Amino acid sequence: MIDWEALFRSAKSVREHAYTPYSTFAVGAALLDEQGRIFVGCNVENASFGLTNCAERSAVFAMIAGGGKRVKALVVVAGAPRAISPCGACRQVLAEFSEATTPVQLFNLKEDHIETTIGDLLPYAFMKTDMQ
Ligand code: THU
Repeated sequence: MIDWEALFRSAKSVREHAYTPYSTFAVGAALLDEQGRIFVGCNVENASFGLTNCAERSAVFAMIAGGGKRVKALVVVAGAPRAISPCGACRQVLAEFSEATTPVQLFNLKEDHIETTIGDLLPYAFMKTDMQ
C-alpha cells in the first residue's frame, strides 16, 4: 500500500528548498524505497549551468546514500502549467534503481496529475544486463 499523500507532501515540502537562482523553476521529488522509507530531493542549480542536478536524481542519490536499494514509487511536483515529467537523464538514472512497473505520479500545483510508470517513461531502457 503506497501512501501517495505522504509522498506528495514530502515532494511539495522539499521543493521549497530548491536552489534555482537561474531558472527560478523549483522542483521537488519524493520516493519510497524497498524499506518503506521516503527520500526527497530538490533541484540544485549552478553558475556553470550544466552542473545542475534535478530533483529526481537528488532523491535517488539521497536514497543510495541512506542505504536504500530500490525505488518503489516516485512523486514529482513543480509549479508548472502542466504536470512536469522527469528529464531524459533522470529517467535513465531512475531506471537503474526501479522496475518497469514502478508507479510514478507527476503533479503541478493545480489540478494536473499524471499516473505513469518508469517503463512508460523510458521504454527499452539501457540496463546493466545489456552489457553481459
Ligand atoms: N528540473 C528538475 O529538477 N526536474 C525535472 O523533471 C525537470 C527539470 C530542473 C532542472 C533545472 O534546475 C530546472 O528544473 C529548469 O530546467
